[in-house]
Amino acid sequence: KDQNVRVEAICDQMITMEGPLLPILHEVQEEFGHIPEGALQTIAKKLNLSRAEVHGVASFYHDFREEKAGKHVIKICRAEACQAMGADALGDQVRRHLKVDWSQTTSDRKITLEPVFCLGLCACAPAAMVDGKVVGRVTRDRMNRILDEVGA
Ligand code: FES
Repeated sequence: KDQNVRVEAICDQMITMEGPLLPILHEVQEEFGHIPEGALQTIAKKLNLSRAEVHGVASFYHDFREEKAGKHVIKICRAEACQAMGADALGDQVRRHLKVDWSQTTSDRKITLEPVFCLGLCACAPAAMVDGKVVGRVTRDRMNRILDEVGA
C-alpha cells in the first residue's frame, strides 16, 4: 500500500540516526496525523525490533495517536503541580461533558481530549492546551467557556 511505501521511505531516511525510533514515529505522525496500525510492523521490521517493542514506545509517549485527532484538540496537564490544583476534577468535568475518556475523540470527530505531562505553566496551574495554545488557571468556568468556543 502507498502508506507502507511512505513509512518505509521515512524509515530509510532516518535509520542512520542515533536512536531513530522516536524521530521516525514523529515523522509518521506528522505525515498521517496518527500512527497507522500497519506502520508499527513496517517500522519494527526496518529497525529490527518486534512490533510489540515499537507499540510499547509509541504508547508510552502520549504524543503519539493511534487514530486521527478530531478537529479540535484539548490537552489537560496531569502532572504534579496541576494535579495539586485540581487537574483531576478538570479532567472529570471535560470527560463527562464530551462523553469521552482520555485520548479519545467525540463521536462527531470534533474534539479530542488528551493528557499531557507538564506544559511548563506550573505557576499557573491547572494548565491546558487548546489547539496548540496554552491556557493557565483553568477554572471550571474557564473550561466551560473553552468547550463553548470549540462547539462542544
Ligand atoms: Fe502542569 Fe507543569 S505541572 S504545567
